[in-house]
Amino acid sequence: MSTSSAIISGTGMSVPDRVVTNKDLEKIVDTSDEWITTRTGIRERRIAGEGEKVSTFCIKAARDAMDAAGVTPLEIQMIIVATVTPDQPIPATACIIQKALGCTNAAAFDMQAGCSGFIYAQSVAKQFVVSGRCKHVLVIGAELLSKFLNWEDRATCVIFADGAGAVVMSEGELPRGVLSSAMYTDGGMADFITLPAGGSAMPPSAETVEKGLHFIQMKGNETFKMAVRSIAGVCLEVLENAGLTPDDVTWFIPHQANQRIIGAVGNRLGITDERCYVNIDRFGNTSAASIPIALDEIVRAGKVKEGDILLMAAFGAGLTWAGSVVRW
Ligand SMILES: CC(C)(COP(=O)(O)OP(=O)(O)OC[C@H]1O[C@@H](n2cnc3c(N)ncnc32)[C@H](O)[C@@H]1OP(=O)(O)O)[C@@H](O)C(=O)NCCC(=O)NCCS
Repeated sequence: MSTSSAIISGTGMSVPDRVVTNKDLEKIVDTSDEWITTRTGIRERRIAGEGEKVSTFCIKAARDAMDAAGVTPLEIQMIIVATVTPDQPIPATACIIQKALGCTNAAAFDMQAGCSGFIYAQSVAKQFVVSGRCKHVLVIGAELLSKFLNWEDRATCVIFADGAGAVVMSEGELPRGVLSSAMYTDGGMADFITLPAGGSAMPPSAETVEKGLHFIQMKGNETFKMAVRSIAGVCLEVLENAGLTPDDVTWFIPHQANQRIIGAVGNRLGITDERCYVNIDRFGNTSAASIPIALDEIVRAGKVKEGDILLMAAFGAGLTWAGSVVRW
């Protein structure tokens, strides 16, 4: 039996400098620090400034991940950027950063799976590494959601935020590496989180702009209910496939969508708060970027040792959900 695996050999992250607190939002929409904190766990978030693009943050995060992995740009054979907020519709953001990073040997493409995008991209990268097709793949989760928010819609503008996280996935040997992963979709719930205009169904026009159809819209309550069930289920599945139980998990690194969702999933799995990594209070919901940002923080803080079991899981627009287990 093959013992080849895909390990995470380096991590990186980058967020905008500008901090926007709940108090700042109180001045823009009818909300309160108390409402946002108790309903979501968010206290502040990073929001990009004028002229900053998602690629700006991808590039910084990717450089740090490559440095940490000890991999040169020319050794990267594939770049996957998971994002719903690319620099522009064409070309893929991955192509823009391939040039900026000098990764001229890499095939580069974006993929879109909402907030589950990073786990989806990690799963795809794993296939190319384990099959021997690629020695090193750069996987980035990055969003500039602030550019697609209606800053008059309190249901969304208090939640979503900006940032990027990156990992290098490299060929390795079991028992280290991605032990198992799973991806799911239910397009029946596609209307829960949408950005209606700008695609072929509703090309941009003065009317779509006037109606605010280029902004993210969300059925928060329906999404919430689905999130807890789907994340808990996929976590148990990937653990079981790896021959593990929640007791074996050193760190649970969930998508940072809502503190209450994270808490409810932790309860269902029996994973106590000390083993559950949360940074939503500082970064808000950065969609596909949230897990790699959390991963980079935890790794750079020296909280992950060789052999530790990391459980990652996310859900998001689509609806999509996904999970993976990694032995560090
Ligand atoms: C969005 C979310 C925080 C809202 O919390 P909730 O408890 O479901 O709140 P509801 O949507 O039921 O709204 C409750 C009330 O708060 C109000 N409200 C909504 N946003 C508000 C805000 N920012 N400030 C103050 N009040 C707000 C609503 O208008 C509603 O008022 P009403 O009862 O007078 O109609 C929650 O549903 C959530 O986190 N859902 C998951 C969303 C998510 O994770 N999306 C990302 C997927 S990756």
